[in-house]
Amino acid sequence: MAQLWGGRFTKETDKLVYNFNASISFDKKFYEQDIRGSIAHVTMLAKQGILTEEEKVQIIDGLNGICRDVENGTLEITDKYEDIHSFVEANLIDRIGDAGKKLHTGRSRNDQVALDMKLYTRDEIVELDKLVKKLLEVLLQIMKDNTETFMPGFTHLQKAQPITLAHHMGAYFEMFKRDRSRLKDIYARMNYCPLGAGALAGTTYPLDRDYTAELLDFTGPTLNSMDSVADRDYLIELLSAMSTMMMHLSRFSEEVILWNSNEYQFVEIDDAYSTGSSIMPQKKNPDIAELVRGKTGRVYGALMSLLTTMKGIPLAYNKDMQEDKELVFDAIDTTKGCLALFTGMLRTMKFNKARMETSAKNGFTNATDAADYLVNHGVPFRDAHGIVGQLVLYCIEKNIALDDMSMEEFRAISPVFEEDIYDAISMKTCVEMRNTIGAPGEDAMEKVIAQEEAYLISE
Ligand code: ARG
Repeated sequence: MAQLWGGRFTKETDKLVYNFNASISFDKKFYEQDIRGSIAHVTMLAKQGILTEEEKVQIIDGLNGICRDVENGTLEITDKYEDIHSFVEANLIDRIGDAGKKLHTGRSRNDQVALDMKLYTRDEIVELDKLVKKLLEVLLQIMKDNTETFMPGFTHLQKAQPITLAHHMGAYFEMFKRDRSRLKDIYARMNYCPLGAGALAGTTYPLDRDYTAELLDFTGPTLNSMDSVADRDYLIELLSAMSTMMMHLSRFSEEVILWNSNEYQFVEIDDAYSTGSSIMPQKKNPDIAELVRGKTGRVYGALMSLLTTMKGIPLAYNKDMQEDKELVFDAIDTTKGCLALFTGMLRTMKFNKARMETSAKNGFTNATDAADYLVNHGVPFRDAHGIVGQLVLYCIEKNIALDDMSMEEFRAISPVFEEDIYDAISMKTCVEMRNTIGAPGEDAMEKVIAQEEAYLISE
C-alpha cells in the first residue's frame, strides 16, 4: 500500500478499506494527462520562482521518463498505489530524489484530479468528433449516390409517401451534425483550467494560473476555487450528448435491423458485419446493429448514475465524485466503439434499390399525389381524398398498385382521370414535385448535399 498521506495516522488502513477507496485500477487510464498537467504545473512554479530552473528540469525529465516507460511497457502501473497521482509522484521521487518531493507544491489532488479529468475528456471529445465526422462522410456518399433511389417514407411504420434513400440518410446526417455541434459547445464551455484551486480555497503560493491555463491550451483559469474542484457539469453534459448520439445510433440500428429482415430486404449487411447461428444454418444476423441498440442503455445508465451521484454533494470536493470515472470512461469507450462499428457496417452495406422502389409502389405511397392530380383538375380536396380512397380499396381487392390500373378502371371511378395520371403518380414525379428545401426532390436534395459537403469541409 503506497499512500501520500500516512503522517497523521497511527494505524495501517484496513486492507478492505484500502481497496474500496483506491482508484488506480481505473484512473491509470489518464496517466498521460496527469503527467502533462504536472509538467505545466512545474513549469509555472519555476517561472514564479517557487522552484529553481534546475529542479524544474529534473522534475520534467523524470516525468517524461515515467511517461515513456509506461508507454513502452517497462514500467507497470500496479495497484500497489492508491491512485495515479500517487503512482506518478512516488515514481518520480524514486527516480530523482528530493526534487521530486516538490512536485505537489501549491496543489491538491482535488484540483489535480479535476484537471486530469478535464484533459482526458477534452482529448476524448476530439476523438468522438472525428468518429462522428467519419460517419457523416459515409452518409454523404450514400446520399450522393442515391438521389434517385426511391423508397417508401413511413409514418407509424406504415408506408406514407415516396422519398429517396438520399433523403432518408439526410435525416441522420442532420442528427449527427447536431451531435457534433453539441460536442463543440461542451468543449468551449468546459475549457477552463481548475489547476491552482488547491483543495478548495486556492493557495498561498503566488501561482500564475493564467500561465498554467495557457500552457495547457485552456481559454483561461476557472474563477471560483470551490467550483473548480466540485464541478462535474461537463461530464454530465458529455454523458447527455453521448446518450443523444447513442439514441440516434440506436434508431438507425433499428431501421437497419428491419431493413435487413426477410420481410423488408431493403439492405444486406456485409458478411464481415454479420454473425451466424450455431443451430440454424440459414441465419445471418444483424448482431452489430443489435448490440449498438443494446449498448445505448449503458450510456443512458451512466448519465442517470452521475446525475444521481452529484445531486446531494455539498461543496466542495467529496469522495463520491471519484465515481465519475468508471462511468464516463465506459460511456466514452462504448460510444466510440459503436460509432466506429456502425460506420463500418453502413459503409459496407448493400442497398437493394429495386426492392425499395417496388415497396414504395406497392404501398400506395403515391395516393396523395393521385388526390393532388384530381385537385389540379378542379375536384375539391375532400372529394379527391374520397375518390382515391375508392381507388386504393379497389387495388387492395385486386392486389395491384395504383400505377397498374387501366385507364378504364381509373375512369370507372372518376371520369376526371386522363392518360397523364400515370406520369403524375409515377415515383419519379411524386418525388420530383417535392422540391422545397429539405424535401426529397432531386433539385432540393442536390442543394442540400452541396451545403452538407461545404459543412464537412469547413468543420
Ligand atoms: N481518486 C480521487 C478522485 O477520483 C482523487 C482525488 C482524491 N482527493 C481526496 N481528497 N481524497 O476523485
